[in-house]
Amino acid sequence: MIAEGVPLPYLYRLTPPTDQHELAGLEFRALTGDVEPPPRLHGGDYRTEGTARIAWARVGVDVARAAYAGECSRLLAMGADLEGMLAGARKLSLRMERFRVRVRKLPGVDEPGSQEIERLVANAITGHPDLTRPAIELIVHAEPGRWLLGELVSRAGRDWRGHEQRPHQYSSALPPRIARAMVNLVAAPGDTLIDPCCGVGTVLVEAADMGVHAIGCDLNPRVVEQAAGNLCHHRLRADLICADGRDLHGRFDGAVLDLPYGQSSRRDEDVCRGLVARAVEMARLVAVVTVGDMSEALTAMGAQLLGIAELPKGGIVRRVHWARGRVD
Ligand SMILES: C[S@@+](CC[C@H](N)C(=O)[O-])C[C@H]1O[C@@H](n2cnc3c(N)ncnc32)[C@H](O)[C@@H]1O
Repeated sequence: MIAEGVPLPYLYRLTPPTDQHELAGLEFRALTGDVEPPPRLHGGDYRTEGTARIAWARVGVDVARAAYAGECSRLLAMGADLEGMLAGARKLSLRMERFRVRVRKLPGVDEPGSQEIERLVANAITGHPDLTRPAIELIVHAEPGRWLLGELVSRAGRDWRGHEQRPHQYSSALPPRIARAMVNLVAAPGDTLIDPCCGVGTVLVEAADMGVHAIGCDLNPRVVEQAAGNLCHHRLRADLICADGRDLHGRFDGAVLDLPYGQSSRRDEDVCRGLVARAVEMARLVAVVTVGDMSEALTAMGAQLLGIAELPKGGIVRRVHWARGRVD
Protein backbone atom coordinates (compact mmCIF):
# COMPACT_ATOMS: atom_id res chain seq x y z
CA MET A 1 0.00 0.00 0.00
CA ILE A 2 2.83 2.40 0.73
CA ALA A 3 4.82 4.00 -2.05
CA GLU A 4 8.44 3.04 -2.45
CA GLY A 5 11.04 5.06 -0.63
CA VAL A 6 8.82 5.84 2.36
CA PRO A 7 10.53 4.74 5.54
CA LEU A 8 7.62 4.21 7.92
CA PRO A 9 3.82 3.99 7.76
CA TYR A 10 2.78 6.84 10.12
CA LEU A 11 3.54 10.50 9.73
CA TYR A 12 3.38 13.17 12.37
CA ARG A 13 3.23 16.88 11.79
CA LEU A 14 5.35 18.57 14.46
CA THR A 15 4.58 22.22 15.13
CA PRO A 16 7.23 23.61 17.52
CA PRO A 17 8.46 27.19 17.55
CA THR A 18 11.94 27.18 15.98
CA ASP A 19 13.68 27.49 19.37
CA GLN A 20 11.92 24.36 20.67
CA HIS A 21 12.37 21.96 17.75
CA GLU A 22 14.96 19.83 19.54
CA LEU A 23 12.62 19.26 22.45
CA ALA A 24 9.84 18.43 19.95
CA GLY A 25 12.11 15.72 18.54
CA LEU A 26 12.65 14.20 21.99
CA GLU A 27 8.95 14.33 22.81
CA PHE A 28 8.15 12.64 19.52
CA ARG A 29 10.51 9.79 20.37
CA ALA A 30 9.00 9.43 23.84
CA LEU A 31 5.41 9.38 22.55
CA THR A 32 6.17 6.81 19.87
CA GLY A 33 8.10 4.59 22.29
CA ASP A 34 11.46 5.16 20.62
CA VAL A 35 13.60 5.51 23.73
CA GLU A 36 16.80 3.82 22.60
CA PRO A 37 19.57 6.42 22.41
CA PRO A 38 20.27 7.37 18.78
CA PRO A 39 23.83 7.98 17.57
CA ARG A 40 23.26 11.73 17.80
CA LEU A 41 21.79 12.73 21.12
CA HIS A 42 20.49 16.14 20.08
CA GLY A 43 16.79 15.81 19.44
CA GLY A 44 15.94 18.24 16.67
CA ASP A 45 16.66 16.55 13.40
CA TYR A 46 15.87 13.07 14.55
CA ARG A 47 13.85 11.50 11.75
CA THR A 48 12.25 14.80 10.87
CA GLU A 49 12.59 16.16 7.39
CA GLY A 50 11.15 18.77 5.08
CA THR A 51 9.95 22.23 5.94
CA ALA A 52 6.82 20.78 7.56
CA ARG A 53 8.84 18.89 10.14
CA ILE A 54 7.12 15.70 9.22
CA ALA A 55 8.38 12.89 11.44
CA TRP A 56 7.86 9.22 10.61
CA ALA A 57 7.16 6.32 12.97
CA ARG A 58 6.33 2.64 12.87
CA VAL A 59 3.37 3.18 15.20
CA GLY A 60 0.38 5.51 15.11
CA VAL A 61 -0.24 6.87 18.62
CA ASP A 62 -2.71 9.23 20.23
CA VAL A 63 -1.15 12.70 20.26
CA ALA A 64 -3.96 14.32 22.28
CA ARG A 65 -1.56 15.08 25.15
CA ALA A 66 1.40 16.10 22.99
CA ALA A 67 2.99 19.51 23.28
CA TYR A 68 4.39 19.54 19.76
CA ALA A 69 2.93 16.77 17.58
CA GLY A 70 -0.06 18.41 15.93
CA GLU A 71 -1.46 15.44 14.05
CA CYS A 72 -0.72 11.79 13.43
CA SER A 73 -1.83 10.25 10.13
CA ARG A 74 -1.50 6.88 8.45
CA LEU A 75 0.13 7.38 5.08
CA LEU A 76 -2.05 6.39 2.12
CA ALA A 77 -0.31 7.86 -0.91
CA MET A 78 2.50 10.19 -1.86
CA GLY A 79 3.91 11.84 -4.95
CA ALA A 80 6.33 14.51 -6.09
CA ASP A 81 3.34 16.65 -7.09
CA LEU A 82 -0.45 16.72 -6.79
CA GLU A 83 -0.97 14.51 -9.85
CA GLY A 84 1.49 11.90 -8.54
CA MET A 85 -0.27 11.80 -5.15
CA LEU A 86 -3.71 11.53 -6.79
CA ALA A 87 -2.48 8.69 -9.02
CA GLY A 88 -1.29 6.87 -5.88
CA ALA A 89 -4.67 7.43 -4.21
CA ARG A 90 -6.61 6.17 -7.25
CA LYS A 91 -4.55 2.95 -7.30
CA LEU A 92 -5.82 2.19 -3.79
CA SER A 93 -9.50 2.18 -4.93
CA LEU A 94 -10.44 3.87 -1.65
CA ARG A 95 -14.02 3.43 -0.43
CA MET A 96 -14.99 5.71 2.42
CA GLU A 97 -18.23 6.98 3.91
CA ARG A 98 -18.56 10.36 5.61
CA PHE A 99 -15.04 11.56 4.87
CA ARG A 100 -13.61 15.03 4.85
CA VAL A 101 -10.40 16.25 3.19
CA ARG A 102 -8.24 18.92 4.83
CA VAL A 103 -5.25 20.56 3.21
CA ARG A 104 -2.04 21.63 4.97
CA LYS A 105 -0.14 23.77 2.48
CA LEU A 106 3.40 24.92 3.07
CA PRO A 107 5.11 27.98 1.61
CA GLY A 108 5.97 27.46 -2.04
CA VAL A 109 2.70 25.69 -2.92
CA ASP A 110 0.34 28.34 -4.29
CA GLU A 111 -1.77 26.56 -6.89
CA PRO A 112 -4.27 25.03 -6.98
CA GLY A 113 -6.30 26.44 -4.10
CA SER A 114 -7.15 24.26 -1.10
CA GLN A 115 -10.79 23.81 -2.13
CA GLU A 116 -9.72 22.54 -5.54
CA ILE A 117 -7.28 20.08 -3.92
CA GLU A 118 -10.06 18.85 -1.62
CA ARG A 119 -12.36 18.36 -4.62
CA LEU A 120 -9.73 16.43 -6.59
CA VAL A 121 -8.92 14.13 -3.67
CA ALA A 122 -12.64 13.55 -2.99
CA ASN A 123 -13.06 12.58 -6.67
CA ALA A 124 -10.41 9.88 -6.22
CA ILE A 125 -12.52 8.22 -3.50
CA THR A 126 -15.67 6.17 -3.78
CA GLY A 127 -18.20 7.20 -1.12
CA HIS A 128 -19.79 10.32 0.34
CA PRO A 129 -18.10 13.27 1.99
CA ASP A 130 -19.43 14.77 5.20
CA LEU A 131 -18.00 18.20 5.93
CA THR A 132 -19.71 18.78 9.28
CA ARG A 133 -19.44 15.44 11.15
CA PRO A 134 -16.90 13.36 9.26
CA ALA A 135 -16.15 9.80 10.38
CA ILE A 136 -12.85 9.83 8.50
CA GLU A 137 -10.50 12.78 8.02
CA LEU A 138 -7.99 12.78 5.21
CA ILE A 139 -5.07 15.17 5.40
CA VAL A 140 -3.08 16.42 2.43
CA HIS A 141 0.40 17.73 3.28
CA ALA A 142 1.62 19.75 0.32
CA GLU A 143 5.12 21.12 0.03
CA PRO A 144 7.33 21.72 -3.01
CA GLY A 145 8.44 18.32 -4.35
CA ARG A 146 6.38 16.24 -1.93
CA TRP A 147 2.64 15.67 -1.60
CA LEU A 148 1.38 13.29 1.07
CA LEU A 149 -2.12 11.94 1.63
CA GLY A 150 -2.81 10.46 5.07
CA GLU A 151 -5.78 9.30 7.12
CA LEU A 152 -5.96 11.11 10.45
CA VAL A 153 -5.29 8.88 13.48
CA SER A 154 -5.20 11.53 16.22
CA ARG A 155 -4.90 15.25 16.79
CA ALA A 156 -3.31 17.25 19.66
CA GLY A 157 -5.60 18.70 22.30
CA ARG A 158 -3.63 21.88 23.10
CA ASP A 159 -5.01 22.05 26.68
CA TRP A 160 -1.74 23.65 27.84
CA ARG A 161 -2.76 26.87 26.09
CA GLY A 162 -5.14 27.75 28.93
CA HIS A 163 -2.58 27.02 31.64
CA GLU A 164 -0.63 30.27 31.23
CA GLN A 165 -3.53 32.02 33.00
CA ARG A 166 -2.98 31.34 36.68
CA PRO A 167 -2.97 33.33 39.91
CA HIS A 168 0.75 32.84 40.66
CA GLN A 169 3.50 33.51 38.14
CA TYR A 170 7.22 33.00 38.71
CA SER A 171 10.05 34.59 36.77
CA SER A 172 11.90 31.27 36.55
CA ALA A 173 8.82 29.15 35.78
CA LEU A 174 8.85 27.00 32.68
CA PRO A 175 6.36 27.84 29.93
CA PRO A 176 3.45 25.32 30.09
CA ARG A 177 4.22 23.91 26.65
CA ILE A 178 7.83 23.07 27.59
CA ALA A 179 6.68 21.68 30.95
CA ARG A 180 4.19 19.44 29.14
CA ALA A 181 6.85 18.07 26.81
CA MET A 182 9.11 17.39 29.82
CA VAL A 183 6.34 15.40 31.48
CA ASN A 184 5.80 13.44 28.27
CA LEU A 185 9.49 12.51 28.23
CA VAL A 186 9.21 10.66 31.53
CA ALA A 187 5.60 9.68 32.20
CA ALA A 188 2.33 8.56 30.64
CA PRO A 189 -1.22 8.75 32.04
CA GLY A 190 -1.46 6.56 35.16
CA ASP A 191 2.25 6.91 35.98
CA THR A 192 3.71 8.66 39.04
CA LEU A 193 5.99 11.66 38.65
CA ILE A 194 8.14 13.57 41.11
CA ASP A 195 9.14 17.21 40.60
CA PRO A 196 11.73 17.90 43.35
CA CYS A 197 11.98 21.67 42.60
CA CYS A 198 8.37 22.34 41.66
CA GLY A 199 8.31 26.15 42.00
CA VAL A 200 4.77 27.42 41.32
CA GLY A 201 3.76 24.03 39.91
CA THR A 202 3.94 24.42 36.12
CA VAL A 203 5.06 20.81 35.63
CA LEU A 204 2.54 19.53 38.19
CA VAL A 205 -0.35 21.24 36.38
CA GLU A 206 0.62 19.65 33.06
CA ALA A 207 1.16 16.22 34.64
CA ALA A 208 -2.13 16.26 36.55
CA ASP A 209 -3.97 17.49 33.45
CA MET A 210 -2.71 14.42 31.56
CA GLY A 211 -3.73 11.95 34.28
CA VAL A 212 -0.23 11.54 35.71
CA HIS A 213 -0.09 11.29 39.52
CA ALA A 214 2.27 14.13 40.39
CA ILE A 215 4.19 14.90 43.58
CA GLY A 216 5.83 18.31 43.87
CA CYS A 217 8.47 19.47 46.34
CA ASP A 218 10.19 22.81 46.92
CA LEU A 219 12.41 24.23 49.60
CA ASN A 220 10.54 27.53 49.57
CA PRO A 221 7.22 27.36 51.51
CA ARG A 222 5.84 30.42 49.70
CA VAL A 223 6.10 28.84 46.24
CA VAL A 224 4.68 25.54 47.54
CA GLU A 225 1.58 27.49 48.59
CA GLN A 226 1.50 29.17 45.21
CA ALA A 227 1.76 25.80 43.46
CA ALA A 228 -1.29 24.69 45.48
CA GLY A 229 -3.10 27.86 44.37
CA ASN A 230 -2.27 27.29 40.70
CA LEU A 231 -3.40 23.64 40.85
CA CYS A 232 -6.63 24.66 42.58
CA HIS A 233 -7.22 27.38 39.95
CA HIS A 234 -7.18 24.71 37.21
CA ARG A 235 -9.17 22.24 39.38
CA LEU A 236 -6.27 19.78 39.36
CA ARG A 237 -4.66 17.70 42.12
CA ALA A 238 -1.07 16.91 43.04
CA ASP A 239 0.66 16.08 46.33
CA LEU A 240 2.91 18.83 47.66
CA ILE A 241 5.85 18.68 50.06
CA CYS A 242 7.95 21.50 51.45
CA ALA A 243 11.42 20.00 51.81
CA ASP A 244 14.91 19.82 50.38
CA GLY A 245 14.67 17.75 47.19
CA ARG A 246 17.88 15.93 48.18
CA ASP A 247 16.03 14.36 51.12
CA LEU A 248 13.24 12.79 49.04
CA HIS A 249 12.76 9.03 48.93
CA GLY A 250 10.59 6.67 46.91
CA ARG A 251 10.29 5.11 43.48
CA PHE A 252 8.67 6.96 40.62
CA ASP A 253 8.09 6.35 36.94
CA GLY A 254 9.45 9.77 36.09
CA ALA A 255 11.23 12.79 37.55
CA VAL A 256 11.21 16.27 36.05
CA LEU A 257 13.88 18.50 37.54
CA ASP A 258 14.00 22.19 36.66
CA LEU A 259 17.16 23.15 38.52
CA PRO A 260 17.51 26.49 40.31
CA TYR A 261 19.30 29.15 38.28
CA GLY A 262 22.31 31.15 39.37
CA GLN A 263 24.58 28.25 40.21
CA SER A 264 27.33 30.76 40.81
CA SER A 265 28.99 29.26 43.87
CA ARG A 266 30.52 25.86 44.41
CA ARG A 267 27.85 25.24 47.06
CA ASP A 268 25.01 25.91 44.60
CA GLU A 269 26.58 23.55 42.11
CA ASP A 270 26.87 20.86 44.78
CA VAL A 271 23.19 21.34 45.67
CA CYS A 272 22.20 20.90 42.02
CA ARG A 273 24.30 17.77 41.64
CA GLY A 274 22.76 16.42 44.84
CA LEU A 275 19.25 17.06 43.47
CA VAL A 276 20.06 15.33 40.16
CA ALA A 277 21.71 12.36 41.90
CA ARG A 278 18.60 11.85 44.07
CA ALA A 279 16.28 12.06 41.05
CA VAL A 280 18.39 9.48 39.19
CA GLU A 281 18.13 7.14 42.22
CA MET A 282 14.35 7.54 42.50
CA ALA A 283 13.04 7.42 38.93
CA ARG A 284 12.93 5.18 35.88
CA LEU A 285 13.19 8.17 33.54
CA VAL A 286 14.45 11.67 34.30
CA ALA A 287 14.28 14.99 32.47
CA VAL A 288 16.64 17.63 33.85
CA VAL A 289 16.64 21.21 32.62
CA THR A 290 19.52 23.51 33.46
CA VAL A 291 21.68 26.19 31.87
CA GLY A 292 24.81 24.04 31.95
CA ASP A 293 25.68 20.68 30.45
CA MET A 294 24.89 17.82 32.83
CA SER A 295 25.72 14.98 30.40
CA GLU A 296 28.91 13.85 32.07
CA ALA A 297 27.52 14.25 35.57
CA LEU A 298 24.42 12.20 34.69
CA THR A 299 26.51 9.41 33.20
CA ALA A 300 28.80 9.40 36.25
CA MET A 301 25.69 9.02 38.45
CA GLY A 302 24.72 5.85 36.60
CA ALA A 303 22.03 7.39 34.37
CA GLN A 304 21.87 6.52 30.66
CA LEU A 305 21.50 9.56 28.44
CA LEU A 306 18.70 9.22 25.88
CA GLY A 307 18.75 12.68 24.35
CA ILE A 308 19.54 16.35 24.77
CA ALA A 309 17.55 19.35 23.60
CA GLU A 310 18.76 22.93 23.64
CA LEU A 311 16.30 25.69 24.50
CA PRO A 312 17.70 29.14 23.72
CA LYS A 313 16.10 31.87 25.83
CA GLY A 314 17.33 35.45 25.49
CA GLY A 315 21.10 35.36 25.86
CA ILE A 316 21.22 31.95 27.56
CA VAL A 317 20.74 28.36 26.44
CA ARG A 318 18.96 25.91 28.68
CA ARG A 319 19.46 22.20 28.08
CA VAL A 320 16.95 19.44 28.61
CA HIS A 321 18.73 16.19 29.45
CA TRP A 322 16.59 13.09 29.00
CA ALA A 323 17.96 9.98 30.68
CA ARG A 324 17.14 6.59 32.10
CA GLY A 325 17.43 6.63 35.88
CA ARG A 326 18.56 3.79 38.12
CA VAL A 327 15.07 2.41 38.86
CA ASP A 328 14.13 -0.58 36.66
C1 LIG B 1 13.86 27.06 38.29
S1 LIG B 1 12.85 27.04 39.70
C2 LIG B 1 11.59 25.86 39.28
C3 LIG B 1 10.44 26.48 38.57
C4 LIG B 1 9.32 25.54 38.33
N1 LIG B 1 9.66 24.52 37.34
C5 LIG B 1 8.10 26.31 37.85
O1 LIG B 1 7.77 26.21 36.67
O2 LIG B 1 7.55 27.05 38.65
C6 LIG B 1 13.80 26.17 40.86
C7 LIG B 1 13.13 25.95 42.20
O3 LIG B 1 13.99 25.12 42.98
C8 LIG B 1 13.77 25.44 44.35
N2 LIG B 1 14.91 24.88 45.11
C9 LIG B 1 16.19 25.33 45.20
N3 LIG B 1 16.94 24.48 45.94
C10 LIG B 1 16.13 23.46 46.31
C11 LIG B 1 16.30 22.27 47.06
N4 LIG B 1 17.48 21.94 47.59
N5 LIG B 1 15.24 21.45 47.22
C12 LIG B 1 14.04 21.76 46.70
N6 LIG B 1 13.80 22.87 45.98
C13 LIG B 1 14.84 23.71 45.78
C14 LIG B 1 13.65 26.94 44.32
O4 LIG B 1 12.94 27.38 45.48
C15 LIG B 1 12.87 27.18 43.01
O5 LIG B 1 11.49 27.28 43.28
